[in-house]
Amino acid sequence: MINELKKEIEKAKTCFLEDLNIIQSSKELIQIKDNYLSRKKGIVTEFMKQIKNLSAEDKPLAGKLINEFKVEVEKQLNLIHDRLSYGKKNEIDYSLPAFDIPVGSPHLLSIVRTALENIFLEMGYEITHGPEVETEYNNFTALNMQEGHPARNEQDTFFIKGYSDIILRTHTSPVQIRYMENHQPPIKIISPGKAFRKDEPDATHTPVFSQIEGLLVDKGIHFSHLKGTLELFIKSFFGQNVSLRFRPGYFPFTEPSAEVDISCYLCNGSNPECRICKGTGWLEILGSGMVHPRVLENCNIDPEKYSGFAFGMGIERIAMLKYGISDIRMFYDNDLRFLKQFG
Ligand code: PHE
Repeated sequence: MINELKKEIEKAKTCFLEDLNIIQSSKELIQIKDNYLSRKKGIVTEFMKQIKNLSAEDKPLAGKLINEFKVEVEKQLNLIHDRLSYGKKNEIDYSLPAFDIPVGSPHLLSIVRTALENIFLEMGYEITHGPEVETEYNNFTALNMQEGHPARNEQDTFFIKGYSDIILRTHTSPVQIRYMENHQPPIKIISPGKAFRKDEPDATHTPVFSQIEGLLVDKGIHFSHLKGTLELFIKSFFGQNVSLRFRPGYFPFTEPSAEVDISCYLCNGSNPECRICKGTGWLEILGSGMVHPRVLENCNIDPEKYSGFAFGMGIERIAMLKYGISDIRMFYDNDLRFLKQFG
């Protein structure tokens, strides 16, 4: 009996090898698989059924032979299954170039801030930082904006709930105060960072924006030092052909104060329809002035001995001018089509 079974298994093996050769599709694969492995009437199952008719000594050998056959059938069918799936949806073509792994890049604001910082670092300035949540004293009072001062109302300010004297700083100038309170001249710092004003977002306003502040205090500092510094800075950043215009301005913490414009680097005043300067030929870029003696006094610096200048500008505005960006909100929309152009 066992010999008969052995022969049958050998025959089945030969048939199976022939069947393997004709498999061209997964449909045929399934048919053949059913034919051999189906639980109900597959060839392997039929062999199993015969075991019960064998003698007790032959049963183990029969079981072993049938199982070896079954394992071999499974193995071969799996190989064919893999070969058929290759070239379909599971295909991996190792000769294709790899997918790009997206790599982040610095945000345009960081790029511009770093460029500005580098210009001042070369001029020997130190970078300092201050908190974004400030006291009213540092943000206004120490900067010569007493309570009730019109400039204090002009800046619509975010207050911290429950604290009448703690605010989100409206400019980076309080960093001047913090630094001067702890250092005697010579002082030569810039402080980049965020500022907050309760502005409705539009093409030129966002409630959060960035500024960079500069402060220099020493013996014998006068307005020409301010002019020379800003000229060097602006030409390094916008190009040597750009010229500067100082207009009288007003800030409570500087006296005299000046607003600074640069000549339009795109049309230089020649295009009445210029999209950058709107035909005026000039672009306003920063506020500046000689530090008010009272501000020095507030920080225990003797205004009889020392004088200084300060300036402040919006980093978004500088970036918009340099890169021809028409809407400040683009910096914060996180639209990759915008961000990818600069990194
Ligand atoms: N802090 C001023 C502003 O936010 C800018 C400024 C800084 C002006 C320093 C003069 C000196 O508008």
